[in-house]
Amino acid sequence: MSLVTITATENGSAEQHRQWCESLEAGSILFFPKSPIALADSDLQFLRGQQQTDSSLHKNIAYKPKSNELTGVDTKTANPAAVDRLRAIMRNYSQSVTAFLTGFLSPYAGQWQLDYASFRPQEEEGRDLPLRRRNDLLHTDAFPTRPTHGARILRFFNNIHPTRTRDWIVSDPFRSVAAKYAPAEIALPQPDSGIGRAFKSLATGIGLGAAAPALKRSPYDDFMMRFHNFLKENRAFQSSCSKYDYQFPAGSSWMVYTDMVPHAVLCGQYALEQTYLVAPQAMVAPQHAPLTVLQELTGARLI
Ligand code: SIN
Ligand code: FE
Repeated sequence: MSLVTITATENGSAEQHRQWCESLEAGSILFFPKSPIALADSDLQFLRGQQQTDSSLHKNIAYKPKSNELTGVDTKTANPAAVDRLRAIMRNYSQSVTAFLTGFLSPYAGQWQLDYASFRPQEEEGRDLPLRRRNDLLHTDAFPTRPTHGARILRFFNNIHPTRTRDWIVSDPFRSVAAKYAPAEIALPQPDSGIGRAFKSLATGIGLGAAAPALKRSPYDDFMMRFHNFLKENRAFQSSCSKYDYQFPAGSSWMVYTDMVPHAVLCGQYALEQTYLVAPQAMVAPQHAPLTVLQELTGARLI
């Protein structure tokens, strides 16, 4: 596992941009000691103050850039002006990260889908969550309600705490962990069954149209969800796997393919995050992608 520290983000050459994509795809974390994303002091103070001033804005809050909507806010009790302000800050954050990455990761331009952003105001240490939702256990990311069909989950983070670090541990990337545990402990994905294909053509035939296959989880998505659960539930993996500690300082940013790098957050408070779903065809080093690894292990097409 490696961390690539980036201090100069301006005017990189096309080759430099390709290398940054390649490092990410190989499972590195790209780390920016000073975040390239500027946030106004007044906005930072507003975000850090939510816990005290409006208890309905203290949970993790998701922002959907495409519809400019916040979820996780209790609109019955929240102060409407605070909700409007939070929405505006999140829109601005989402747009700034996208503008930055459009240049910084130019080989991916036009080949990603802008997914949700989030505001994480709670102290991560000692959170009381059901096991599968705990983020202090090592895991790779998969979305229960949003299958990616092989698209990669790329996440960009900002530690916006005024002084404290956000502490992560990570483990070795997908290929080594998947090869170790599949198929003995986690059943490998099965190629799409005839029933699945019949459902798709039936759904298209009766006018559910293109939406139906997108909602359906592919064998790839099914495996990635089971893999996420398996890692969190497996005590031997949690205690014996290789672990690398990273402390991301106040004011820093980092990005990583969280679908391939097992990660956990141990402590820290106040973070912003933006997720992208990067098309499988955009990979500059597709040999590392979980889809490639799984297709090699099974000898079958999984999306
Ligand atoms: C996660 O994706 O597991 C959360 C990481 C964080 O909030 O720092
Ligand atoms: Fe995660």
